[in-house]
Amino acid sequence: MHNIRELRAEFPILSRVLPNGKPLVYFDNAATSQKPSSVIDAMSGFYETFNSNAHRANHTLADEATTALESARSSIAAFFGAEPSNLIYTSGTTEAINLVAYAWARRNLSEGDAVVLTEMEHHADIVPWQELSKEIGIEVRFVPLDLEKMALDMDAFQHALDGAELVGIVHTSNVLGIRNPIEDIIRLSHESGAKVLVDAAQGAAHERIDFINLGADFVALSAHKMAGPTGIGALLATDEVLSQCGPFLTGGQMIRSVSIEGSSYRDGSAMLETGTPRIAEAIGWGAAVDWLSKIDFKEMHDHIKHLAITASNGMKEIDGIRVFSDPVRPESSGTISFLHERITSDDMAMLLDEGGFAIRTGQHCAQPLMDALGVLSTNRISLWIYNTEEEVKSFLSHLRMICERFG
Ligand SMILES: Cc1ncc(COP(=O)(O)O)c(C=O)c1O
Repeated sequence: MHNIRELRAEFPILSRVLPNGKPLVYFDNAATSQKPSSVIDAMSGFYETFNSNAHRANHTLADEATTALESARSSIAAFFGAEPSNLIYTSGTTEAINLVAYAWARRNLSEGDAVVLTEMEHHADIVPWQELSKEIGIEVRFVPLDLEKMALDMDAFQHALDGAELVGIVHTSNVLGIRNPIEDIIRLSHESGAKVLVDAAQGAAHERIDFINLGADFVALSAHKMAGPTGIGALLATDEVLSQCGPFLTGGQMIRSVSIEGSSYRDGSAMLETGTPRIAEAIGWGAAVDWLSKIDFKEMHDHIKHLAITASNGMKEIDGIRVFSDPVRPESSGTISFLHERITSDDMAMLLDEGGFAIRTGQHCAQPLMDALGVLSTNRISLWIYNTEEEVKSFLSHLRMICERFG
């Protein structure tokens, strides 16, 4: 990657030395990415100079906060090829999917209607639908993984689509790093009359998602996986589905008028944001998309792919390691799940941490996928733009040492 040193210098945390004296190697980017100084500065600049509530008072600070909140909305929407009025701030992908379940599905689905999900979904795109099933009796259908191909079984998907009202699909798996054939899934779903909700929590950090070109009805996003802060994300929703929504959370901000007799609500996306907005977080996310706008995504993709192939080839050569991902495939990103035959995933994570390597371990909020893979948990490295070949090589040599010594 061009100028990787300069790029890394923009992320203060990457020069961190851990308490045991080891330099940090951060390979847990699918959980959350690190933040560049421009994001950190934008957020502290808000608190230091114009902290105030937005959309309320008329004083100077309040005007500045409102302007910053809305200009962040415009930048973020533009980054995703959407109109600001189609972007609803949420706390992240989880809340965005819950918003669809509460505000759209509860109004538009009824007993017996089918929602199609996949075994690759994150719990965030499973549990809201199970709850809705308990509440109103929708049918939840799961499309299996083709374990030979380690990809979604598209024949089973087409079968599951029959008569379905909604498809919930993860853009890129947080466990395997596989990007699903989203464009085909959206086309087939629409041809069959189903709406589509895309969980782009992982995908948005790896490719430029264009809401209008993609053609999904809903796209759920988390800022913190794409250089932005925690605590904020968004739902992108078309005018059509917005017009079919009822309220989500109720209270201040989303109302048109309130009296003792009853209340009326604002239209469209304005009805779906309630209470004091996440102002600092929106400003931080705005700074993150400004930062990402300067990144050549193709160059980033090639860089991550090169690192991921180096990592997975090296891991496969180590006795006892089973690698579940295949970064060589064009639709793969830099997320690699692996397990050692004899070293438990928890022990492996601890031994890697001792070497300064931050990786993720567990079910990755994807228990149905763990069941399909026949494992209880995996270790996972997830690489991003600022990771380097030296880091991957030192990871491989530390992993080899662990396996020789403890395997
Ligand atoms: C694919 C996927 N979907 C949804 C989520 C939930 O995102 P958040 O915790 O930011 O709401 C994650 C987080 O790891 C994820 O990887």
